[in-house]
Amino acid sequence: MDIKVLRCKICGEVFIGKALPSNCPYCGVENKFLIDGSAYKDENDVELTDISKKNLEKALSIELSNTAFYKCIANTSTEPLIAAMFKGLSKIEKEHADVFRKILKPESDPEINETCSDDSLASLNSSKERETRATVFYSQALKEATENRLKEVFTAIMKTEHDHLALDNEMIKKYK
Ligand SMILES: [Fe+2]
Ligand SMILES: [Fe+2]
Repeated sequence: MDIKVLRCKICGEVFIGKALPSNCPYCGVENKFLIDGSAYKDENDVELTDISKKNLEKALSIELSNTAFYKCIANTSTEPLIAAMFKGLSKIEKEHADVFRKILKPESDPEINETCSDDSLASLNSSKERETRATVFYSQALKEATENRLKEVFTAIMKTEHDHLALDNEMIKKYK
């Protein structure tokens, strides 16, 4: 099998490998967004409406908050599976923050501080709340977006948060 060089249309990161993964290994979007490296175009310079600017600010702060919260759990948990899960989720949310930052181009990031506990079930329930909030917000931001690039990004990332919610539900069953 040939080695492929694919690039994610959403996060712009590059995947090099033989078999197509089900999702972008960086931002977690479905593999339909992984395109041939030669076909990639940067589409992040967008003329934004005021409402989309406001929604991107909120999206950036949701993603930064989730990145910090998940990183805290990854560093605090004594359960290897919980630590691994949240290490992965933190990386993905960081990629989401990077995507929104590339489109919004803010002068600075909002100040974010998160604390967490080493209680696995409490962490999973907090994550479930966060992913639910994110999914609901992205579906509203998607309705309000008129820019094609934003519609694409909100749709793809909303689906990823939905996958995280499904993972939370699976893990909650295990740790109950
Ligand atoms: Fe990606
Ligand atoms: Fe996210």
